[in-house]
Amino acid sequence: MRKHPFSSIILAAGQGTRMKSALPKVLHKIGGQSLIAHLLSTLKTLNCRDITLVTAPSMEETRSQFPKIHHATQKKPLGTANALLSAEKFFHNQDVLVLYGDTPLVQESTLQKALEAAQDVHVVVLGMRPEDPAQYGRIFADDKGYISRIVEYKEANPEELQNNLCNSGMMLIRKEALPLLKEIRDKNSKKEFYLTDLVQLANDHGLKAQVIEAPFWELQGINTRVDLAEVEFSFQQTKRHQMLESGVTLVDPYSVYFSFDTEIGEDSYIEPNVFLGAGVTLAKNVHVRANSYIEGATIGSDSVIGPFARIRPETKIETQVKVGNFVEIKKSTLEKGSKVSHLSYIGDSHLGEKVNVGAGVITANYDGFNKYKTNVEAGASIGVNVSLVAPLTIGKNAIIGAGSVVTQDVPSDALTLTRPPQDNIKGAAKRFRDKRTKK
Ligand code: UD1
Ligand code: MG
Repeated sequence: MRKHPFSSIILAAGQGTRMKSALPKVLHKIGGQSLIAHLLSTLKTLNCRDITLVTAPSMEETRSQFPKIHHATQKKPLGTANALLSAEKFFHNQDVLVLYGDTPLVQESTLQKALEAAQDVHVVVLGMRPEDPAQYGRIFADDKGYISRIVEYKEANPEELQNNLCNSGMMLIRKEALPLLKEIRDKNSKKEFYLTDLVQLANDHGLKAQVIEAPFWELQGINTRVDLAEVEFSFQQTKRHQMLESGVTLVDPYSVYFSFDTEIGEDSYIEPNVFLGAGVTLAKNVHVRANSYIEGATIGSDSVIGPFARIRPETKIETQVKVGNFVEIKKSTLEKGSKVSHLSYIGDSHLGEKVNVGAGVITANYDGFNKYKTNVEAGASIGVNVSLVAPLTIGKNAIIGAGSVVTQDVPSDALTLTRPPQDNIKGAAKRFRDKRTKK
């Protein structure tokens, strides 16, 4: 375990032109969370609090999203070494861990290995062997992993491109090697100051550089939307694996999508085609049936959701609740044992224990200007095709008859009917039919 502290610098000032996007590359999302936020949470688990983000002057919006870290701006995108030097005042006379804002999945354990390796060498570089080395820089190392140089794709000759040991960009630079950053020159085809040149300079000065290899999925950089989709896939695969390992059944793992913060208790059972957006917690033994979309919701144990349910943010579903097909729930609480089984919209509502909501019930929560609350007390039963016009309270154990449009509060134990009485006009259907079919 490494004891002395270090500074982390995340490089994110590149233009990201290959993304073809108005949004800065590092604000694109993986598992519902920005690339930068992924790195910040990994650094948090690594217990690193000294973090600096290097952005371009125009990236004010990016900086404002991360108020708790240091910010440095790189005036012009003159390359990765220049970007790192823009944050020089935040090196704080410590070793520096360099992360790339476009490489979000690096694991804490891998960074830990890099930190440990840096006890013996001056520069540690994280390397990988992708199936297709594409345009990554190539690392030239001996059998023990000591690196002599890194050659950028654009500068490499065909023979050098045969080497499949690729640079992830991430580096741990011991403070003794930091002054060499100023010796890096931009004599290359892109006229950029390449951070990768640090390795050769270190060797020239009798300092050692070493590569630590990690799996490609962790170190894959995102330059294009194709990369973004591939990294998303890796993220989802990791999550699926973690969920299965922790005691969750995924009938068809490839068709279930998780977010960065999804939590699911043991013995929960997820059927195919389920999307779990940010902020979802499922307790133990929750059954999510096929084709459901859940975001920003907590679901209590032994509840059944779906098939085809949509649960929207700020929803709290307690234990033993049933939410059935074609039901949408928004910003509502459903207490223990409540049931909304078919074709309903429940918004801005509170349903007490054991409330039963029939098919086609709609809470009319919006008058075009404001949203209003519906409160249904324990044991109440709402018949099919009822409109509950909020603001409204339905008292304990009340029954609302089918088809009612309820606009006033209902006392406990009342039976409420708002539909017109039924009128059976004897023989009228036959008379009507006879008239229409008369020759
Ligand atoms: C870089 C590496 C390459 C490596 C690859 C891994 C260099 C010179 N090349 O290439 O060896 O295989 O990453 O993904 O380091 N950035 C700045 N300012 C700049 C330029 C870049 O902050 O002037 C930032 C970018 O925002 C990005 C990171 O540095 O987060 C890497 O830049 P990028 O242009 O993506 O470099 P690659 O071509 O991917
Ligand atoms: Mg890149």
